[in-house]
Amino acid sequence: MTASTSAIRTPGVERLQAAPAQPADEELDRSLRPRRLSDFVGQHAVRDQLAIFIEAARARGEALDHVLLAGPPGLGKTSLAQIVAHELEAPFIETAGPALERKADVAAFLTALEPRSVFFVDELHRLPRAVEETFYPAMEDRRLPITVGQGAGARVVTLDLPPFTLVGATTRAGLITTPLRDRFGVSHRLDLYEPDDLATIVRRSASILEIKIDDEGARAIASRARGTPRVANRLLRRVRDFAEVRGEGRIDAPLAAAALDLLEVDEAGLDRLDREILRALCEKFAGSPVGLSTLAVAVAEEADTIEDVYEPYLLQQGFLQRTPRGRQATRAAFAHLGLERPREAASLF
Ligand SMILES: Nc1ncnc2c1ncn2[C@@H]1O[C@H](COP(=O)(O)OP(=O)(O)OP(=O)(O)O)[C@@H](O)[C@H]1O
Ligand SMILES: [Mg+2]
Repeated sequence: MTASTSAIRTPGVERLQAAPAQPADEELDRSLRPRRLSDFVGQHAVRDQLAIFIEAARARGEALDHVLLAGPPGLGKTSLAQIVAHELEAPFIETAGPALERKADVAAFLTALEPRSVFFVDELHRLPRAVEETFYPAMEDRRLPITVGQGAGARVVTLDLPPFTLVGATTRAGLITTPLRDRFGVSHRLDLYEPDDLATIVRRSASILEIKIDDEGARAIASRARGTPRVANRLLRRVRDFAEVRGEGRIDAPLAAAALDLLEVDEAGLDRLDREILRALCEKFAGSPVGLSTLAVAVAEEADTIEDVYEPYLLQQGFLQRTPRGRQATRAAFAHLGLERPREAASLF
């Protein structure tokens, strides 16, 4: 099962924070999505490079080189893909790896593209292998070989495709095969955002949603948004509810802190499942390394969700360590949970 289906299966406050987009969030995502590169906050390396490539492609009237965007959910991959199309003033066509089941599905999309279109394929790592091979000549030479007829009478006809830009997005760069990855001219990994950038995003979203918030309030939300714009936007909306019911409709730092406490988002930005993961590693496994699937069973969550959604932030914050023998809680994790570290674990760090 995928990360997104498991998120839908388990709704509730504990999933508020880190989980991938759920249907209700998709509308929020859409309304808050930056439209231009200049609205896209942070990720300066990616933004600056794309700005140059886009300008050059526009000046030459050519399609932009194919772009691969990797990184955890909610960091802006879909937003960037749409921005690229918008900045190029080119049509945007969107699909996802699992929707391309057969070669004919890919052919249907590719043959319908207008020149210079941006063809966005989300969840690129879930593209079936046989279908993936159809992309190679299409990306490289804008050729699409298709088999016509069956049996002895079958022959291969090669169609010419218009110039187009494939933008691929993945939460799992490691699962993209080398031949596919090599065919992208531009490849970027999005990192978790700095609190300053997240505070800018919170202020921007608040102004679009007409929410009253001061700078400290924005910072308070940003500091607990686990480096992820989608989480920051979700928290902003929940804190607004709290402000309307318990406050005077205006968000400041103390109100944001009280609301986030109620939502069980702690000061390190960890939500309930983050803490359950750490607690399992610290208590159940006594600080020893444990395999991902064992950990997933211990916290009743999908291994994929732990790896894609929870782990990046826990790793970045230094609460979790990946070792050759599995995942392991760090000294900081024990301290955060207020737990004593067993002596065997102490020898490791
Ligand atoms: N750099 C940014 N500046 C402003 N807002 C952003 C930025 N990045 C993301 N967002 C906000 O976060 C939301 C989620 O971003 P987006 O849908 O692009 O993420 P994603 O990487 O495609 O996630 P997923 O892997 O789940 O598909 C957007 O709707 C937008 O409001
Ligand atoms: Mg997306």
